[in-house]
Amino acid sequence: MKLLHLDSSALGTNSVTRELSAAVVARWQEALPELAVQYRDLDTEPLPHLTARSLAKADPAEAEASEATMQQFLDADVVVIGTPFYNFGIPSTLKAWIDRIAVAGRTFRYTEAGPEGLAGGKRVVIVSGRGGQYGDTSPADFQEAYLRQVFGFLGVTELEIVRAEGVAYSPQHRTDAVAAAHASIRSPLAKAA
Ligand SMILES: Cc1cc2nc3c(=O)[nH]c(=O)nc-3n(C[C@H](O)[C@H](O)[C@H](O)COP(=O)(O)O)c2cc1C
Repeated sequence: MKLLHLDSSALGTNSVTRELSAAVVARWQEALPELAVQYRDLDTEPLPHLTARSLAKADPAEAEASEATMQQFLDADVVVIGTPFYNFGIPSTLKAWIDRIAVAGRTFRYTEAGPEGLAGGKRVVIVSGRGGQYGDTSPADFQEAYLRQVFGFLGVTELEIVRAEGVAYSPQHRTDAVAAAHASIRSPLAKAA
């Protein structure tokens, strides 16, 4: 079984999502010691923006990196993604990764009956950090809601969220939110909601 662990926070060791995504992965490793974990830091090793040259595969090295990114995603049974809430959305580094794995004919396709996800059968854990408080249904949430939409479109039906929010309100809010998020980490052996 393979787990792909991604981080995208630009705050390095001061990041709450890095701390929490590591805790989620540690929980998986405790439960499943044979788990093969691959780690990718999208902040320190960002993928380039998807451009016309990318689509034309004009740069062989970029095309190779793009295919490797796709294959790594396809191979993963579990994907754990640390994502801050940046300017009402996700970090552009994470968006650059999504642009490489959301590809027609690979992870989704259009049929006469509409779109069909081709990347089902995976579990996705979104580890979300937010300065403000948005809860589950805020119309200003273009981070978790966006990721739910993307992975649902790709066929993923088992997605869970580990969230620390309101972390910018005060140091105490941050401490409490991170503690609550740690406490909310589910056993990997429990089915995702
Ligand atoms: C560039 C940047 C943009 C941010 N934009 C928002 C925002 O739009 N809304 C919000 O609630 N918090 C925002 N924040 C606060 C982060 O969501 C918060 O600090 C979160 O903990 C980041 O996760 P991290 O600690 O893993 O980096 C922003 C932080 C940064 C650095």
